[in-house]
Amino acid sequence: MRDLFDKIYKDKGPLGKWAKHAEGYFVFPKLEGPISNRMKFRGKEVITWSINDYLGLANHPEVRKVDAEAAAEYGSAYPMGARMMSGHTDLHEKLQEELASFVKKEASYLLNFGYQGMVSTIDALVSKNDVIVYDVDAHACIIDGVRLHLGQRFTYKHNDMESIEKNLQRATKIAEQTGGGILLISEGVFGMRGEQGRLKEIVALKKKYNFRLFVDDAHGFGTLGATGAGAGEEQGIQDDIDVYFATFAKSLASTGAFIAGDKEIMDYLKYNLRSQMFAKSLQMQLVVGALKRLDMLRTMPELKAKLWENVNALQSGLKNNGFDIGTTQSCVTPVYLKGSIPEAMALVRDLRENHGVFCSIVVYPVIPKGLILLRMIPTATHTLEDIELTLIAFSAIRERLENGTYKRLSAAVTASLGE
Ligand SMILES: Cc1ncc(COP(=O)(O)O)c(C=O)c1O
Repeated sequence: MRDLFDKIYKDKGPLGKWAKHAEGYFVFPKLEGPISNRMKFRGKEVITWSINDYLGLANHPEVRKVDAEAAAEYGSAYPMGARMMSGHTDLHEKLQEELASFVKKEASYLLNFGYQGMVSTIDALVSKNDVIVYDVDAHACIIDGVRLHLGQRFTYKHNDMESIEKNLQRATKIAEQTGGGILLISEGVFGMRGEQGRLKEIVALKKKYNFRLFVDDAHGFGTLGATGAGAGEEQGIQDDIDVYFATFAKSLASTGAFIAGDKEIMDYLKYNLRSQMFAKSLQMQLVVGALKRLDMLRTMPELKAKLWENVNALQSGLKNNGFDIGTTQSCVTPVYLKGSIPEAMALVRDLRENHGVFCSIVVYPVIPKGLILLRMIPTATHTLEDIELTLIAFSAIRERLENGTYKRLSAAVTASLGE
């Protein structure tokens, strides 16, 4: 028999194997200083394109003031216990009411973390007779939620209506046999490539198939739709989303999350959502902070306008300079380049060290082998100068990628990894 740890000693996993070359720089980098468009990386100022602070609230003076006051008043312990037992307060309820009204739903329920909350909501919504149909490119929290499901599940090709319909047909057959129902899960915005889920077309299928729609709108909340209510509002089908999810970790620049929908469904989840029943309530500082941020979303539309001014300037600048930004329909701005992982590392090092531009790289296995994705998140705090400097930097690195500079620079890494 083997020691459980044997496999860990031998195989560090698809990302872990890069640790020696990557840790502290490409993964687990330390960005320092106040959260903004310019931060410090290894002592040098960089333009930061990797922080989901879409509306620039993270370091907004009014937000910082409210956060500090709430911390002084409540500390980080209050309230103690799970919501159901001893962790329930008027302000938790108030925040739920305001979130529900913001996303145009009857009711909402708070989650401590988006990830766990999604897993738990999927778990609570289905029983073994039900069938889940979901996008193959779904976020890890959806995949892990589906893993808990004891019944059938089908993935459909990313945003592919034909595949969605085919899988709804398969799901319908099974649900008819088991006597269960169907839960279709999509993201409002797919966080890597920036495409919106085809919610409008999915909703239209409700006329033909009997299913409920659950949307993870982590990236759409606060950024899309006339009032910032997200991808459903943007596509004019918010009413047809049966369960809506968003995290506080992006537009609201905080920690926590919520789900929203019909009151009866939220009431059910309140009593069946294991991530909230068996965990300490969302701490008060975060509740008070979220109330303030939400108020700013409602009353300061200029934040979203500035965000989109930057998104449009960055995306059109990249396109005009011949970069492939794929099919994004949101603020998420991917730039696709061709190259190996070691080349990607050399390229990012050049971007950071010589151009002061910090963005995340995404490589295989998250995207196909041979592609490098530089993922950029514009925010309301960026300036047109940041965008101009970044475009100049991108043109320079593209030239060096194409003329083989990064291949030469990364030859040692490539050899040591046998890539
Ligand atoms: C699509 C999506 N869903 C869920 C989450 C998880 O949210 P949280 O950070 O609040 O756990 C994220 C990332 O933050 C996300 O991008």
